[in-house]
Amino acid sequence: MTPSNLSPADRQRLDALHERLRAASTRNVGYPTNQAFDYTELFRFLEFSINNVGDPFHSTNYRLNTMEFEREVLADFARFTQAPADEWWGYVTSGGTEGNMYGLYVAREIYPEGICYFSEDTHYSVAKVLRLQHTRNIMIKSQPDGQMDYADLRETLRIHRDVPPIIFANIGTTMKGAVDDLAKIREIMEDLAIGNAYIHADAALSGMILPFVDQPQPWNFAHGADSISISGHKMLGSPVPCGVVLARKANVDRIARSIEYIGALDTTIAGSRSAFSPLLLWYRLRTLREAGLRDMVHKCLENAEYAVQQLRSHGIEAWRHPNSITVVFPKPPPAMMERWIIAPRKNIGHLIVMQHVSRATIDAFVSDFAASLKSSP
Ligand SMILES: Cc1ncc(COP(=O)(O)O)c(C=O)c1O
Repeated sequence: MTPSNLSPADRQRLDALHERLRAASTRNVGYPTNQAFDYTELFRFLEFSINNVGDPFHSTNYRLNTMEFEREVLADFARFTQAPADEWWGYVTSGGTEGNMYGLYVAREIYPEGICYFSEDTHYSVAKVLRLQHTRNIMIKSQPDGQMDYADLRETLRIHRDVPPIIFANIGTTMKGAVDDLAKIREIMEDLAIGNAYIHADAALSGMILPFVDQPQPWNFAHGADSISISGHKMLGSPVPCGVVLARKANVDRIARSIEYIGALDTTIAGSRSAFSPLLLWYRLRTLREAGLRDMVHKCLENAEYAVQQLRSHGIEAWRHPNSITVVFPKPPPAMMERWIIAPRKNIGHLIVMQHVSRATIDAFVSDFAASLKSSP
């Protein structure tokens, strides 16, 4: 290793940063980022300026790429999401937001006049994406449990029956882990005789939970999704943000063709793309394997249920959706927010029971919570 030119003071700053991150990682219970991973075997790939620029299914002149590994990752995700055989396309994104942007982009290209419907509980980045794309949109009410209010959706769709809907479905909302029911949404559209529609599924966190449970809610391509975005750094865990987006190939080809016309098969949103994150995802999938993934998901779900029971036994009204590791409770007092990394919204908070959130951490969290309630005015 080449000795670095860093001054002792700057080295100390890095040491202090490392210590701060190490301490914070164990207290991160409110954001869905799995901290339990070891990618040491991949560190040597940081020696190269690797880049997966362009479409992972087409060759590129830039040979320092990992597209072969990217395609294997995509094939695994296609299986997890029940994508139609040989009729899907996708790429490794910079995160869930880019995947959502891609899905909404495809939808808008297919239905330029379409209106996007999304619930109040949708991630904040989606309104921004719609604004960027100049896509007409209408916010639908949410039910108290975080699911889309299907009666409000029906009524709003009925009023705009002449315009193709672009449904932005939450497959695990950020705050409550609620899953919008794709079967119900399709039933509403069928009732209203709406033929042309596009459904994008934002499965940022739950997209790596639902493939491994016995009774998943309807959420994937088999249930009518046209595109799905999943974060890589959430359930799987990764030191850099990343994700996967998959879409029906026929829809993507319509966009690819229009870009070929100007001389390039530039199917992804970003030009230069990380070649390291596909390697991280590939390594994680190959080392955990499907049995390991299933085991991880089941342990997290069991621990989430344990957290609900422990909180309730201290008089804290905690609850969670089926197949969800998001444990919802009333917003904790300020003292708790200082000690723990919690993401509050309005009057609620949540514990996201990822792989690194052990029962010991849950116990410490619950006893802190109970104590802070006693001491708060
Ligand atoms: C439901 C949902 N969608 C989208 C996102 C954005 O994903 P990312 O942070 O990977 O861009 C999040 C992030 O928490 C989320 O919870």
